[in-house]
Amino acid sequence: MPPSCEKSLMRIMPPMPPLRSHTRLPLYHDFLLTAVVASSRRCISTGARQSDAPTETYEATRLKSLNPRPRKPLTKEQRDFLSSALRVNQTGELAATLIYTAQTPPLVNAHPHLRPLMAHMYDQEAGHLKTFNSLITKHRVRPTALYPLWSLMATGLGWSTAIMGREAAMACTEAVETEIGEHYNNQIRSLLEMFEQWEAEGYEVGTEFRDLISTLRRIRDEELEHLDHAIEHDAKEARPYWLLTSLIRAGCRGAIWTSERV
Ligand SMILES: [Fe+2]
Ligand SMILES: [Fe+2]
Repeated sequence: MPPSCEKSLMRIMPPMPPLRSHTRLPLYHDFLLTAVVASSRRCISTGARQSDAPTETYEATRLKSLNPRPRKPLTKEQRDFLSSALRVNQTGELAATLIYTAQTPPLVNAHPHLRPLMAHMYDQEAGHLKTFNSLITKHRVRPTALYPLWSLMATGLGWSTAIMGREAAMACTEAVETEIGEHYNNQIRSLLEMFEQWEAEGYEVGTEFRDLISTLRRIRDEELEHLDHAIEHDAKEARPYWLLTSLIRAGCRGAIWTSERV
């Protein structure tokens, strides 16, 4: 055994009896030690043994770790999609924090038991906004040009539905979260299709994109949790429920469409 191999083995494994033949090697064939066994075979064996399958597997693994799969450069269309996705998400989360900020005082004054729920939903929206604020800063995505308009409309929507009553405020949450949940689902689906395509072509997706999917899924789930809270708190008792939720949902779809582009 070459001295360098012997030293590296001694560092990894405790001293063991001298190996008399290859038949003893499977004793150490633990899945945690696959690389060690393969390495020891390579050190012990001569010429012909170096082309054995275990050695090739080890070599393939080692080369793969040294040369990870390449990343595929984004096309212009994909860059535009990601920019508009981050922009519209940041806009939506800003609007959500403003809706809850405007709803909370009148709603909690009339129904103090709703204070913890409103605080919980606001805190989650503030967390979402912080996430997308840092993502648009990191990726240098410009915020929507209609920031002042959406801020005004979100505040007006929150305040007016809270004045209409608890049920109307909850119907507002139900309508908004229905649209936002679907919006996040669409984004997640598009990203997963993109990643599948990259992997099929032999490219690495990368940690950053995997983290983005996890973030979107977590936020989507929290939005759907708000939707459940709204229904549990009598959103469907709002009058006129159909007109109110239809108008709000149409407004959300319009705001999403516009913010993706402007
Ligand atoms: Fe949110
Ligand atoms: Fe939400």
